[in-house]
Amino acid sequence: MLLAPSILSLDYAKFNEQLAILNEKVEMIHFDVMDGHFVPNISFGPDIFKAFRKNSDLFMDVHLMVTDPEKFADVFIKAGADNITFHYEVFEDLDKCRELIHKIKDNYVKVGLSIKPGTDVETIKPLLDELDIILVMSVEPGFGGQKFMESAYDKLRELKDYRDAHGLNYKIEVDGGVKKFNARQIVEAGCDILVAGSFVFEGDMRANIDSITF
Ligand code: DX5
Ligand code: ZN
Repeated sequence: MLLAPSILSLDYAKFNEQLAILNEKVEMIHFDVMDGHFVPNISFGPDIFKAFRKNSDLFMDVHLMVTDPEKFADVFIKAGADNITFHYEVFEDLDKCRELIHKIKDNYVKVGLSIKPGTDVETIKPLLDELDIILVMSVEPGFGGQKFMESAYDKLRELKDYRDAHGLNYKIEVDGGVKKFNARQIVEAGCDILVAGSFVFEGDMRANIDSITF
């Protein structure tokens, strides 16, 4: 299991200190890019991302919550992303998703597809053999600090079973409401990568990371 702290909850007044802890204790960082259209919130663009890239060799997992993922995939790949995840719901069209998956892969970075709580795993099954990461949203995207939606558990089991049955290699990632008390159950249901924002950055970061890593 990997922990990917979401820097949406990072305290920018303590950028150096908090990034140093991440560099020391985790392998991956999760970047929530929001455009105020696909989700009702704005986060940050490539310049902030570059400040992280300049100061870290960690795997940079970019989660695009934007209505124009083609454009921003390109921008964040140029800025040094290691993975680009976009949302199925932007297109609601398998061919369009496939086209962007291929474009991202042509740049030798990893590619992920995310589904919101209202989208079934069944809908994206034809794409699963092309993906490195499937990101299951366990909250409505847009804000940190929301409550984990239990409906995610069935999706995790379904994705794990499908991967086993078809000999595929994608990683299953969960995003939203991940805390110490539910982390183990989420991993047992099939999750490989836990994204956690508010839980990691509130209070003693080192202790928080240790308590959720197993
Ligand atoms: C929500 C974001 C999440 C968020 C998770 O739209 O995609 O990554 O930062 O935050 P917590 O862990 O606080 O739910
Ligand atoms: Zn995210």
